[in-house]
Amino acid sequence: MDKILEVNDLEVNFNTYNGTVHAIRGVSFDLNAGETLAIVGESGSGKSITVRSIMQLLASNSDITNGSIKYHGDDLLKKSDKEMDKIRGNKISMIFQDPMTSLDPTMTIGKQVAEPLRIHKNISKKAALKRAEEVLNLVGIPNAKGRLNDYPHQFSGGQRQRIVIAIAIVDYPEILIADEPTTALDVTVQAQIIDLLKELQEKIGTSIIFITHDLGVVAGIADRVAVMYAGRLVEYGNVDDIFYNPQHPYTWGLLDSMPTLDVDENQHLNSIPGTPPNLLNPPKGDAFAPRNKYALEIDLEEQPPFFKVSKNHYAATWLLHPDAPKVTPPASVQRRFDEYKKLGETNNG
Ligand SMILES: Nc1ncnc2c1ncn2[C@@H]1O[C@H](COP(=O)(O)OP(=O)(O)OP(=O)(O)O)[C@@H](O)[C@H]1O
Ligand SMILES: [Mg+2]
Repeated sequence: MDKILEVNDLEVNFNTYNGTVHAIRGVSFDLNAGETLAIVGESGSGKSITVRSIMQLLASNSDITNGSIKYHGDDLLKKSDKEMDKIRGNKISMIFQDPMTSLDPTMTIGKQVAEPLRIHKNISKKAALKRAEEVLNLVGIPNAKGRLNDYPHQFSGGQRQRIVIAIAIVDYPEILIADEPTTALDVTVQAQIIDLLKELQEKIGTSIIFITHDLGVVAGIADRVAVMYAGRLVEYGNVDDIFYNPQHPYTWGLLDSMPTLDVDENQHLNSIPGTPPNLLNPPKGDAFAPRNKYALEIDLEEQPPFFKVSKNHYAATWLLHPDAPKVTPPASVQRRFDEYKKLGETNNG
């Protein structure tokens, strides 16, 4: 498969009055052409900082202390601001976490959608507006032509999110980074936006990095999933590996806190007890160990390496060491294992 982005051993610190925050602590992953990779994890795990590093849009107190981010083999971290300007919004574009504030309230949406073209392409105002209209149609803004001169406040929340997506795709990016693009929206509109992203991917072949803290939306959109905790990846694999054969207790916790499909009004959702570690002073072992009832002694002492579970599926937990004791995962996760086995049997039989 064609790897278009390779993030290797990325480390990002923030210098603060209280000391150095070790926000990203050695993250590596690839993105293949045309696929959707989801990055999931609780608030503060480092999802946004990881993708902002790719775009090189980090706060001024940040410091990328290690790693490389290769785009078609070229390290983006070695590029000048000027060179990055040619890539950002053009080859790689991003939908930010807060769509409402990423639109300019004083500029018409026609102009805003056309702007990346005016910056990156030498085309006339008229041609750029024509293309803006096309893209607004594509993302499902009704009567796009008649609305080019309207301002953001004249649109609903869901429509504004579509406009933000239109801006991000107007120049056919190779990579689209969507940082929690649906969090602020109600469930129906969320589903529509996800369908829209999938449709756009089919039409223009974009690779997508989709960030969410909600594993529920991942099943519908991702090919592969990377689970993040306290500035590191703890598990990654194909979407089925993560949903039906998860290995890291943190992934179990995330899955266990997901609503199940059988509609039960009194459904009790288990959120993971405890809080993530303070990254001013990261723990030496598996950062999840203090919250992990399955933790082994060594988890508190030594950072587990990635153990290979199957092709493309890896998890960083000492539970996968050949000498580790066998543990029983939460019942909801055990049901997933069972379902998967059954599926395998039906497929084979
Ligand atoms: N400018 C900054 N100065 C200091 N620390 C920062 C700064 N920006 C981010 N951090 C820290 O970096 C860590 C990762 O933050 P990040 O925004 O990537 O989390 P996230 O996974 O995107 O969370 P959320 O789901 O809430 O968006 C957090 O611990 C955060 O406090
Ligand atoms: Mg974030």
